[in-house]
Amino acid sequence: MNRVHIKTYGCQMNERDSEAVAAMLRARGYRIVASEDDCDVLLLNTCSVRDAAEQKAIGKAGHLLARKRGDPDFVLGILGCMAQNRGAGLLDRLPDVDLIVGTQKFHRVPDYLDNLRAAREAGAPVGEAVVDIGEEAGSQNTIRDHMEGPDRRVCAFVSIQQGCNMDCSFCIVPTTRGDERSRPMDDIVRECEDLAARGAREITLLGQIVTSYGRRDYPHTGGVSPFVQLLGRVNAVAGIERIRFTSPHPRGFRQDLARAYSSMPKLGEHVHLPVQSGSNRILRAMRRPYTRERYLEIVASLRAAQPAMAFSTDIIVGFPGETDSDFEDTRALCEAVDYDMAYIFKYSVRSGTPAASMPGQVPEGVREERNQALLEVLRAGSLRRSQALVGTVQEVLVEGPDRTGLRFTGRTRANRAAVFEAAPRLVGHLVPVEIARASVSTLYGELVGADAGLQTAPGAASL
Ligand code: 5AD
Repeated sequence: MNRVHIKTYGCQMNERDSEAVAAMLRARGYRIVASEDDCDVLLLNTCSVRDAAEQKAIGKAGHLLARKRGDPDFVLGILGCMAQNRGAGLLDRLPDVDLIVGTQKFHRVPDYLDNLRAAREAGAPVGEAVVDIGEEAGSQNTIRDHMEGPDRRVCAFVSIQQGCNMDCSFCIVPTTRGDERSRPMDDIVRECEDLAARGAREITLLGQIVTSYGRRDYPHTGGVSPFVQLLGRVNAVAGIERIRFTSPHPRGFRQDLARAYSSMPKLGEHVHLPVQSGSNRILRAMRRPYTRERYLEIVASLRAAQPAMAFSTDIIVGFPGETDSDFEDTRALCEAVDYDMAYIFKYSVRSGTPAASMPGQVPEGVREERNQALLEVLRAGSLRRSQALVGTVQEVLVEGPDRTGLRFTGRTRANRAAVFEAAPRLVGHLVPVEIARASVSTLYGELVGADAGLQTAPGAASL
């Protein structure tokens, strides 16, 4: 009973939490396996941000529970946001689930599995489900060291903070992730140094609202926020070539952060800057504390610091009360910013949030229409920006073989995926790639300079 498969839904934070659970389980002697069919324990790490994500995980869990009929020792656990959001209520729909563990209790999973295993081995009857969704002081400090073990990764994720204290009226995250808690800066920097020593070249700092990092724990010094201080310290870590972060809040983009983009070359030319809506009326109803004018000013200040700056964003269409004219404001803002990429979400009612009881809920047909209209605007803009790079040479961090295994893949400084021929020894290196062709989301090119003649496909004998 020691083969564990973890299936993750939702955001990078969830991916990161799953990696941390996997590392803790490996340290206890469990084997993390890739196959859902050949495992003894299956853990679903879930997402609650939209109803569809919850329904997907519940459907999956229901399906998996059928397996228990043939194999009563099979263990099914539900972890993360939906576990936190629904707690023991999940047992109404999924009575045979063994484990429900919330977002502040991931580090308890190995103990719970050990106990279950011991009970099963002793022949004890299957007891009640374990439900643990309490708050835990200091839980932000339990998430670390996920790189233990064999995998060396070029791009690593480092959690800097948990929870969120904003009160966006549409959002379930403050309920699922709790209050904002930051990890100590020294711990984060040490983790980045360790990751660099193990081969990581790019660090993505993760948090629900990274720009608020440490605001209650560290003073602003010389007009520099704790988050920008942290960026400065990670920027100084030898071996780390690139730093990214997600997700920031527009509110956090003051001069200190704009200046960091000119003074810290490792930041690259990309910002993910969630706007949610381009209508001031809707932004107010969403309780987002900025206007479209302020947002556009931030974009301009970042493009002034780095003219090649690429932006991505999150947008919700069909928020309660959104009229055609509000939607046109969003469309116009998208055109004005000229995004490289955007995640567009149809508004999803989350019970218990203020927006759930607002008048003017928008019918699904209209939400879908707006979703499609915006997708088309963004697709066209993204393709235009992508094609403008044809003929240029981009610095690419080589991450590994692409999906076909025949070529290599990596990202440009502006976070565009690139595919090209290279040699395995270039993984983890920054290489110049001349762009020959571009689709909406991917650049295709060739290595230039000293490495260009030395390419071999990953499967071929290396030189
Ligand atoms: N409905 C639709 N999208 C949502 N998001 C958050 N809550 C909701 C909701 N209730 C989106 C936001 C956020 C992203 C992670 O998910 O755009 O930035």
